[in-house]
Amino acid sequence: MSETFTKSMARNIYYGGSLFFFLLFLALTFQSHQEFPKRDNHENLTESAARGKLVWEEHDCIGCHTLLGEGAYFAPELGNVYLRFGQSTDAIKGFIKGRPASGIPGRRSMPQFNLTDQELEDVAQFLKYVSGVNTSNWPPSIQG
Ligand code: HEC
Repeated sequence: MSETFTKSMARNIYYGGSLFFFLLFLALTFQSHQEFPKRDNHENLTESAARGKLVWEEHDCIGCHTLLGEGAYFAPELGNVYLRFGQSTDAIKGFIKGRPASGIPGRRSMPQFNLTDQELEDVAQFLKYVSGVNTSNWPPSIQG
């Protein structure tokens, strides 16, 4: 075996390595797209939940909250709030309606959004839908 490491050897490692990892990337991407439909909880993806996502976006809930880990870290994670609130959309609606909480000084408080009954129902259905997405039990704690 040659003791020298030639330019062409380096080039082959570079091209071979790039090709190998590109193919691995394609295979894993393909596998992910096979798995998504099995995990996305589409039974609960109702018209109401879809409208709820618009309410969620229009009021920039993600500007304070995280949803499945994505978003701002000012307020609690809401991906599992439906489970945390005893699987009750009424509890979620009541909470949102009742803001801001009677001011404890220094405590973060959610503003009042004056949502209509329909918007409240829709955003609660959206949060119910999200709670059923199979995230491999993430976050590990229901408080997370
Ligand atoms: C300005 C920041 C801010 C925005 C925007 C915001 N929230 Fe909140 N939210 C909070 C804070 C802070 C809390 C926790 C403190 C409290 O009790 O108000 C909270 C708590 C919650 C809770 C209860 C979470 C729990 O585990 O107790 C729900 C449900 C919720 N928000 C839903 C929403 C929805 C839906 C929207 C969009 C319509 C929204 N939030 C927009 C700041 C915000």
